[in-house]
Amino acid sequence: VQVDLAGVKSLLLIAADAGDGKDHDHANWADAVVTFDGEQPKLAAGGGEIREVLTPPAPTAPRINGPRVYGASPGKPFLYRIPCTGERPMTFAAEGLPEGLSLDAASGIITGAIKEGTPRTHTTYLTARNGKGAARREFRIVAGGTLSLTPQMGYNHWYTHYNRITQKMMEEAADILIRSGMADAGYEYVNVDDCWMNAPAVSKYQTDPQRVGPLRDEAGNIQPNVHFPDMKGLADYIHARGLKAGLYTSPGSHTCAGFGGALGFEENDARQFAAWGFDFLKYDWCSYGRVAGKSPSLEGMQKPYVLMGDLLKRQPRDIVFNLCQYGMGDVWKWGAQVGGHSWRTGGDLGFELERIFEIAIKNCGLRDYNKPGGFNDPDYLQIGWHGAQRGGTFELSQPCPLTPNEQYSFMSLWCLMAAPLFYSGDIQKLDAFTLGILCNHELIEINQDPLGQCAKIVKQDGDGFVMVKDLEDGGKAIGLCN
Ligand code: GLA
Repeated sequence: VQVDLAGVKSLLLIAADAGDGKDHDHANWADAVVTFDGEQPKLAAGGGEIREVLTPPAPTAPRINGPRVYGASPGKPFLYRIPCTGERPMTFAAEGLPEGLSLDAASGIITGAIKEGTPRTHTTYLTARNGKGAARREFRIVAGGTLSLTPQMGYNHWYTHYNRITQKMMEEAADILIRSGMADAGYEYVNVDDCWMNAPAVSKYQTDPQRVGPLRDEAGNIQPNVHFPDMKGLADYIHARGLKAGLYTSPGSHTCAGFGGALGFEENDARQFAAWGFDFLKYDWCSYGRVAGKSPSLEGMQKPYVLMGDLLKRQPRDIVFNLCQYGMGDVWKWGAQVGGHSWRTGGDLGFELERIFEIAIKNCGLRDYNKPGGFNDPDYLQIGWHGAQRGGTFELSQPCPLTPNEQYSFMSLWCLMAAPLFYSGDIQKLDAFTLGILCNHELIEINQDPLGQCAKIVKQDGDGFVMVKDLEDGGKAIGLCN
């Protein structure tokens, strides 16, 4: 292509859906050259934005954060670490906990299993106390019904560690969630993405010969690779800190990065993931396309998710189900029916970070499908430092290409949309700026509001847009974007 740049202020390369309704296409500049006549153009100065920490630090007195309403099944293991900022040591108390649950006063971790046959909704009051003061907050526990009554919050390894991930790194991520204060702000899930299992061979995205091995043993059990020597140990490690563990696989024979998938072994895998102790499953379409065929019917698209959704419900523990099929077949219309608690609404955001505003506008158009128990998932938060996927390579972590204000906007948009909040940046390289954005308790309060409502765009023109999100207490959260 040749583009006339006279008078042009920004030049964007936009990969659209190529007319097939699937916006999972990728494109990049190839040998782009800007030519000019006359005087040599001058480099413009950068935007000059400062990486300023705008979030006030948390007070030393306790402040309880996170959800105000929480779903769990009676008779299944319950685990909740009260997210609370403030100076340690701190002691915790809870009034009105359902029968079967108990609280560890020193750690603020609630465990047990809600007794079957108890009432459905339990209005509990959580208290935290330290030398500087006390905080008290209502926490409604809804026993039975659905999980994920508010958007899930946590960490996912994908956009930084890709095919380099190890069990040790995941354990370190759990420690950092605690140490950095992210868990005190509400981040709860520690989620392994692709590449934890064996792969049949070295391939484009699977370049580590150590990760090659048998996909299953004789009994059909999925085989983790050498970098994940003890899956149960990993889940136990995460649980010991009061956090929850997440895992990833594909309904196809292989995952997107070429590792062993669940096809034909769905029941084994659901049972195995539950036995290891995982609390979350991301189920990524990938090679299932080969099973479903070129233009699958709606039923064909739903089939693998119906199967796994049912299997997960039958396990002796609560497992949150995340559908990853890039929005095919308007998944937002049926994701909850097949047992999903969140569903990706598009392709990988890592390939199109510069489109966060556009993606937010699209997502707001799907707001009617965002509800407690089932959330539109526009993909993970990538701010601070994170990796990049270019061509066939997974690059090491580098500064986020978005400006500081865009990074503030990123978090704000995701909170106004009531989107799941998974930080997928480099958790080892968190600084005050990134932590300030991720742990802004006012934003998290908006994200976790019990109505679970995605903001509505009430005004949009060439200069920007205005978002309004109703909150349970009758208030409204307003987003102004230019
Ligand atoms: C797909 C998904 C990503 C990630 C990778 C792993 O691209 O959309 O979120 O899970 O697969 O290979």
